[in-house]
Amino acid sequence: MDAAPDAVPACADDGTWLACIECGETFAPFEDVRYTCDHCDGLLEVRYADLPTFDDFGAGASTDGPDRGVWRYREALPFDLGVTLPEGDTPLHRVPRIEEIVGVDGLRIKHEGMNPSGSFKDRGMTVGVRVAQELDVDALACASTGNTSAALATYGGRAGMPTRVILPQGKVAAGKIAQASLHGARILEVDGNFDDCLDIVQELAARGVVYLLNSLNPFRLEGQKTIGFEILEQCYADYGRFPDRIVLPVGNAGNTSAIYKGFRELVQSGALDVAEVPKLTGVQAEGAAPMVEAVTEGNDEISRWEHVETRATAIRIGNPVNAPKALPGVHNTGGTAVAVSDNEITAAQAHLATEGVGVEPASAASLAGLKKLRRQGRVDDDELVVCLTTGHLLKDPEAAYKAGGDPEPVPNDADAILEQISD
Ligand code: F0G
Repeated sequence: MDAAPDAVPACADDGTWLACIECGETFAPFEDVRYTCDHCDGLLEVRYADLPTFDDFGAGASTDGPDRGVWRYREALPFDLGVTLPEGDTPLHRVPRIEEIVGVDGLRIKHEGMNPSGSFKDRGMTVGVRVAQELDVDALACASTGNTSAALATYGGRAGMPTRVILPQGKVAAGKIAQASLHGARILEVDGNFDDCLDIVQELAARGVVYLLNSLNPFRLEGQKTIGFEILEQCYADYGRFPDRIVLPVGNAGNTSAIYKGFRELVQSGALDVAEVPKLTGVQAEGAAPMVEAVTEGNDEISRWEHVETRATAIRIGNPVNAPKALPGVHNTGGTAVAVSDNEITAAQAHLATEGVGVEPASAASLAGLKKLRRQGRVDDDELVVCLTTGHLLKDPEAAYKAGGDPEPVPNDADAILEQISD
């Protein structure tokens, strides 16, 4: 984690370049469209000549853009400003009643559902769509369990670029399709699961038809790493220390990779000690848990699950493509991974709602996972923990109805209603 920063290669553009995480080959960032290494097909990562410290965050705000949200961290990003709505600067909710029941020193909920399109994906798209403009591509595309497509449609629309989204038919929550539809994306539904959709969109991107904005795209993860920066700054402001642990739902493992990368950069700039890096703790649904399997068995690679099922459709994923970036994040921070049942997810969703925090099922996996790890004695009671909730309740209205109470028919009469509610 505290490896010395790389020497700046000749291909760097204004101190920014791409590097393969497997073979170390470097590439110019904005000359050609590229998602993986030309030589070994490894995942690419964005690298910088200068890495900021906390003091650099918010610098240059008055001329370069907003001093809040993702672009507050422009010193850690490839551009000073992107296609913005704006995004980030999400609340870190206190949940005192849940904190007491979970039994930890501190519990906060980082609610990413409060982003413009209702999920953390907006942080990635504000950067990714800016890069698409730089590369002068014709059309944008992604495969999605729903939120990525909603965010891409939103930001593609904002940038005035044509957008295509490839979705697993019948497996995407209603709110997300409604967003992609209204924001003008062309919605292509495949009779297959998310992993099939991602295979297809990668094929279309390889043929040069579309620019891929899934989390395989290294620039998207740059925006998402700002979640980690915000959590550190918000916790420090409130507690005078950083959190011991961040618990987050895992699908393609992009977010886990992104947050880990942000922390590594802070360690490399000298802003953070290795010992201060929060333990990254991933949660998956039992029916779609290849990352948990790899962490539990101590494997360096994941094995693709062909058949996946969970009510938390956002994380119904059997082949987390960012696992080579995310697994070291879990291992090197002393984190872990845990699988939870759909019923545990629904119970956590309802529990969060009692504190006024409305999230979609996949988001509630983080709290469900924390509860399970506490029961198993794998999280200590003196920890300061942040659970990430990744998407808003309204993304999946059907799941919310099922987790909550049913409406009651009442007579059109105040006295009769009074009688009924005094039961
Ligand atoms: N939570 C929500 C609400 C999501 O939509 C996703 C991923 C995740 C968690 C998992 O994040 O992939 O970075 O590990 N949704 C993607 C999509 C796959 O298409 O919207 P990850």
